[in-house]
Amino acid sequence: MSNCLQSWPEPIVRVQGLSESGIREIPDRYVKRPSDRPCFKETTTLSSSSHLENIPLIDLENLNSSDESIRDETMELISKACREWGFFQVVNHGVSHELMANARSVWREFFHLPPEEKQKFANSPVTYEGYGSRLGVEKGGKLDWSDYFFLHYLPEPLRDYNKWPSLPITCRKIIGEYGQEVVKLGRKITNILSINLGLNENYLHTKFGGDNERGACLRVNFYPRCPQPDLTLGLSSHSDPGGMTLLLPDTDVPGLQVRRGDDWITVKPIPNAFIVNIGDQIQVLSNAIYKSIEHRVIVNSGQERVSLAFFYNPGGDILIQPAEELVTEDQPALYLPTTFNEYRAFIRTNGPRGKSQVESLKSPR
Ligand code: OGA
Ligand code: NI
Repeated sequence: MSNCLQSWPEPIVRVQGLSESGIREIPDRYVKRPSDRPCFKETTTLSSSSHLENIPLIDLENLNSSDESIRDETMELISKACREWGFFQVVNHGVSHELMANARSVWREFFHLPPEEKQKFANSPVTYEGYGSRLGVEKGGKLDWSDYFFLHYLPEPLRDYNKWPSLPITCRKIIGEYGQEVVKLGRKITNILSINLGLNENYLHTKFGGDNERGACLRVNFYPRCPQPDLTLGLSSHSDPGGMTLLLPDTDVPGLQVRRGDDWITVKPIPNAFIVNIGDQIQVLSNAIYKSIEHRVIVNSGQERVSLAFFYNPGGDILIQPAEELVTEDQPALYLPTTFNEYRAFIRTNGPRGKSQVESLKSPR
């Protein structure tokens, strides 16, 4: 890895510390260009009904129905959501609701530990593992209004419990259990997507490297209260670089916005649901039949927000390219083969930049 990624280009400022210092104006580093700012006026007008839409909701239990038409209809709803939205919410997904609540609350507690306790886990741009406050290493670059914790869950050799928070005392145990359940859900959804693409049901699982090589990481995002939420973003527009994301949003503070044409739809979280979205690697494997859709996070002055983004990924050294079955004369392979490790160096260097990365993988015509 290049030298410029060994350390952050400037001293790290914790956004939570800034927020808690009681400042009335945010530092210039967090002020976005006008075109990148959230447009609160637009999203609250009632004149355009598209702003009231929510992403599709899927009841996964319907896939076990004895009625074949209900099973088919549910597969079709998922297929449509992947093609048209890149996002959907799932309920009856098999992950224990109690575990979801415990995972949320243990992470909220972590972020409310004293700064010196969290600082023990301060991260660097080499692996990003640990407690962080920026994505990207560009000196003087604009920053997002959030802190985070990033850790590896799979493949097992990359799992290092010493890099996970030692406090709260139950944290490691809860992350372990949560990871195990969410991985099962990820596996289930990759099978559904493979079938919907007309591929063997294990296609994506195998391409991700199977049980031994597939990757999974957790990023817990902490969005502190912000005195000027209309000038900044909690997380700038991006598409997720990995395979698929299973997001556990805050129960009662919305913030995630999904791009739909020229609009930004604010997702209304449903109790006990996961928000699932397609990442760039599935866009590549599906030869763009499924798209990784841009999304971003807005913040607010009233309440902090915590979200758990679980990234379900191909193993880092596997070459990812469009599935042969989906490459035809009419639709030639759109992307050049790349490993996920090479691919994710981009966001780690440049920070979140819309969909510019997957576009850069386009094969020359
Ligand atoms: C992410 C992400 C959304 C959220 O972590 O990649 O898009 O609601 N998070 O925090
Ligand atoms: Ni994301």
